[in-house]
Amino acid sequence: MNRKRVAVLISGRGSNMAALIEAAKDKTYPAEIVAVISNRPDAGGLMVARANGITTELVDHTAFGKDRTAFESALQAALEKHRVEIVCLAGFMRLLTAGFVKQWQHRILNIHPALLPAFKGLDTHRRALEAGVKVHGATVHFVVPEMDSGPIIAQAAVNVRPGDNEKDLAARVLKAEHQIYSLALKLVAEGRVNTDGDRCLIDGAPLPNTKTLAAGTIIPRCSSTGK
Ligand code: GRF
Repeated sequence: MNRKRVAVLISGRGSNMAALIEAAKDKTYPAEIVAVISNRPDAGGLMVARANGITTELVDHTAFGKDRTAFESALQAALEKHRVEIVCLAGFMRLLTAGFVKQWQHRILNIHPALLPAFKGLDTHRRALEAGVKVHGATVHFVVPEMDSGPIIAQAAVNVRPGDNEKDLAARVLKAEHQIYSLALKLVAEGRVNTDGDRCLIDGAPLPNTKTLAAGTIIPRCSSTGK
């Protein structure tokens, strides 16, 4: 099997990165994690990646001052060095320029801790609780120049429970994130995700056909959104 070469970009603890590394340990998984790249030297995920035998790279944004293009050139060089085919942003806290994103169009994924298009940006769990939503969740989407936008590949819904605080809700959403990110990457790596304007088609349809997914995937708990 020709496994897609994936880099995971992180800035912090890297629990989604760890979930992708775990999924890719299965030799039948269609992607392999060839590098973990951090923009911060203190990102906890770097140690986790190394402990799993994954090569890490540091592209420290502070070394480039305000020059985002120079930072992204260094990032691009690291990606090319590892012959990366798909980029997964996982808690990567730098905004990428339109030029960089376009270069990786449909080959760069992000995970966001909310059911997009609701609650773009930061503090999603606090804002969800304040808004009194009954259902919250997580989204994996293709990255486009606009932040937390782009065709949705997979979503997982999480019920908000009475008495939930931000921490409780965040923990349940994070668990769902770990499941849908590896599922979404699998679908993309298998070439089963296409876009039709602003939305994703999986196996040619707005909603994935559960029968075509391997047993054990969590598709009943997640969906691509059709309009
Ligand atoms: C996750 O909640 C992810 O959705 C968001 O940043 C957080 C990163 O967490 N983009 P981790 O580093 O993967 O644990």
